Amino acid sequence: QSERTLVIVKPDGYRRGLTGEVLRRIEAKGYVLAELKVATPDRERLAKHYAEHEGKPFYQPLLEFMSSGPATFAVVEGHRCIEGFRALAGATDPTAALPGTIRGDLGRDWGEKVQANIVHGSDSPESAEREIGIWFA
Ligand code: CMP
Repeated sequence: QSERTLVIVKPDGYRRGLTGEVLRRIEAKGYVLAELKVATPDRERLAKHYAEHEGKPFYQPLLEFMSSGPATFAVVEGHRCIEGFRALAGATDPTAALPGTIRGDLGRDWGEKVQANIVHGSDSPESAEREIGIWFA
């Protein structure tokens, strides 16, 4: 049956004017935008969202970065869209991400402590439902 994933165009993507390009690629792939909003992520919800990374060296810089300005949140729908969006996004490190992917085509290393890698996509159906619950409560 159909599946949902949470996609975030992170503050770096928003600042660089890449929101439309990311949403265009999602739609061109054939997935459906079920919900969409622009908001500056608050630290309380970011702490929930990134709970699994607490204690890692990039955790605090990640919360700083993610709360630094507006981001776009999308609930994306379609068969196997979790796997499909992660393929569209490319590897976490934008330097290593293959050309043809969002991060590979549009991202680079900016010498920061955190990977400013334009997009987030849920990594499993459980994460997707949990994350959608946090941002679209
Ligand atoms: P995301 O998929 O949103 O989940 C965790 C985020 O932390 C990730 O994207 C990157 O932005 C960042 N991240 C993951 N691994 C590292 C790392 N090794 N160094 C810096 N930032 C990282």
